[in-house]
Amino acid sequence: MGLNNFSTRNLILLGILILNGVDNISGTSESTLKAVSMLFRHGDRSPGMSYPLDPYHDYPWPGGYGALSPRGYRELYGSGLIKSTRYSSLLSIHCDTDATCNMDFNKILVLSSAIQRCVDSAESLLNGFVRANWPSNLINVIPQNQDEMLAAPGKPCPNYEDIMTTGISLNDPEFKAVIDFESTEGQEFLDYLQNNTGLVVNSPMVLLLLEDVLLVEKDNNLELPAWTDSVFEQYLVPLTSIVFDIWGSSQYMKIRSSTLFKDMTNKLDNLITGSDNQNILLYSAHDATVGSMLHFLGIRDQTVARPTYAASFNLELHQNQEIEDDYEVKLLYFASYDDQNPIEINIPDCQAPCPYKQFKLTIQPRLTPDYETACSQ
Ligand SMILES: *[C@@H]1O[C@H](CO)[C@@H](O)[C@H](O)[C@H]1NC(C)=O
Repeated sequence: MGLNNFSTRNLILLGILILNGVDNISGTSESTLKAVSMLFRHGDRSPGMSYPLDPYHDYPWPGGYGALSPRGYRELYGSGLIKSTRYSSLLSIHCDTDATCNMDFNKILVLSSAIQRCVDSAESLLNGFVRANWPSNLINVIPQNQDEMLAAPGKPCPNYEDIMTTGISLNDPEFKAVIDFESTEGQEFLDYLQNNTGLVVNSPMVLLLLEDVLLVEKDNNLELPAWTDSVFEQYLVPLTSIVFDIWGSSQYMKIRSSTLFKDMTNKLDNLITGSDNQNILLYSAHDATVGSMLHFLGIRDQTVARPTYAASFNLELHQNQEIEDDYEVKLLYFASYDDQNPIEINIPDCQAPCPYKQFKLTIQPRLTPDYETACSQ
């Protein structure tokens, strides 16, 4: 009776953790983990907008448009719980002489996009991850106008940032795999959408925003209007996926992924050389951030175009006796908040066990110059 969805789900998760914990105890002495970097998408959110003929135009979304939803908070908490089991060996407990023990929060670095749902997601993930009070200054929020890697658009990048707004044309050849907007059929499709939504449908961006509103409404058990039946799954979903692939392979997102990759690996390098001690790096970001990193590393074909809520791309460093004077890199993709069996990525051009130094060498040719230089080239 008293059990709502939240506590039921948590009890299940806790049960899973206890079962996993039993396995883990026997394996702990063999733990080889040295560090992890997690790049994750925020959780379930309300739609970013409405459209003029939306029957749910006045729907009272908690927190307004674009906010992390109650379900989103729970997702990140659940993700944090699962990650805390996997990374328990890194969550170091520091005990003082008087035997009071505290978690060493200096070993955790949290960077968040300034968009509020990402900050809220980082908080929720931490709550599940450490299950203790954490210092309120633990989350570093990057102001959007200085953000070179997490929010997009962020810091201005005049030559390339149009790709996130108006830069993609309906005539891009990629879309022809779904529908040819230069054909009569394509024009009728656009007219149909325009007639039924009241939107001026003149760019792929409008298609993406519309798909997103419908997707979120559907996820929230709001019955979609009948006109969507013939277009949502068949056209809007695949077209949106193509927009994400175009974003992910764009020069703009390549510059940002490169900046983010350098940020991660510099911090891991500092840990290895001993100039820093942070061994848990948490980056709270967006679908485009995660998706573009998958493109940047050449592993999109093993994953997805648009990461779902709370999906996480993790880079782990492990000790491995086969690799002297170095660490093994493992790349993992957690497809959803409750994923306990992440995809183990086959790292291109680096056979398992892939040495960290070699991994960095394979990526090096893709690195762009520093943000401002790259953006003005
Ligand atoms: C859109 O609305 C116009 C005006 O009512 C109509 O002539 C046209 O056939 C409609 N097109 C589609 C594809 O629904």
